[in-house]
Amino acid sequence: MHSRRALLYMPGDDWKKITKSITLGVDCICMDMEDGVAINHKAEARATIAKALQELDFGKSEKLARINSIGSGFEKEDIEAVLPFHPDGIVIPKLEDVKQIQWASENIESAELRHNWPVNSVRILVIVETARGILNLKEIASHPRLDAIIFGGEDYAASVGATRTKDAVELLYAREAVVAACAAFELQAIDIVAIDFKDIEAVRVESEFGAQLGFSGKQIIHPAQVVPAQEAFTPSDEAIAYAKRIVETFEAAQKSGAGAYALDGKMIDMPLVRNAQKVLDRAKAAGKM
Ligand code: COA
Ligand code: MG
Repeated sequence: MHSRRALLYMPGDDWKKITKSITLGVDCICMDMEDGVAINHKAEARATIAKALQELDFGKSEKLARINSIGSGFEKEDIEAVLPFHPDGIVIPKLEDVKQIQWASENIESAELRHNWPVNSVRILVIVETARGILNLKEIASHPRLDAIIFGGEDYAASVGATRTKDAVELLYAREAVVAACAAFELQAIDIVAIDFKDIEAVRVESEFGAQLGFSGKQIIHPAQVVPAQEAFTPSDEAIAYAKRIVETFEAAQKSGAGAYALDGKMIDMPLVRNAQKVLDRAKAAGKM
């Protein structure tokens, strides 16, 4: 699966921002046709994204296109405009029901067959950002073409009538629900946007807290957010060294017949080893091992 520590959005009708995004070393570039684009610029966004997919070299960055929500009336033209140019994935916002993924999946599969691309080479990421979406997470997460669930904090707050605060306590239940659904189906979990993009310390703190909750990455909206977000979702050298020690000492303890043992005055047993393994998996995904 592609590493998605940071997923950078830009309005799909903004050629300048798209060309800038490919210079930033960001894991994931998401060209938007939805809420970042004015209603009277949807056609321009479709054409601009199609041109970018054809003409630009995205290097190691993943290229994604966000369509309008299923039922908006825009979604069919959106997906048809970009699919012929093989984006790496389609992002579906305001996802509430697994049937909506099925609609996109059928469109994608017929494009794959038509163009002789490998089946499943265009992935789907969904944004769950309504109360209904949270209630239906279990079915949503089970779809085989899905790579990741993204949690949309601002839309979710609007959906339930919550007041957004800086530490986002009002979003905690929904964020944790997304993390759990993703873990159950081996998907990536991608956290909320920090909209105050000038405040780099705030992005760093929010990214680190998201990583603590179990998210694997974060949505971002500005070039200045790339480094703090990607760093927060990359295990530190110390965390990697400690995880390696846990795995090694655990193997030795198992051989000597001990399930639990002490390391630096702390009890180590199976759950800590599993967690250490997750840290090493993340380090590998981030290219650090
Ligand atoms: N992707 C790529 N480049 C971006 C960018 C983005 N999301 N946001 C800003 N930039 C570029 C600017 O074009 C500018 O480039 P330049 O130095 O070559 O002229 C540079 O980064 C600095 O931008 P800055 O002046 O600080 O911001 P701005 O006022 O131009 O834009 C926003 C502020 C919020 C409008 C802009 O960041 C943006 O459009 N973000 C994404 C919004 C979006 O997609 N929303 C929907 C999903 S939540
Ligand atoms: Mg949204």
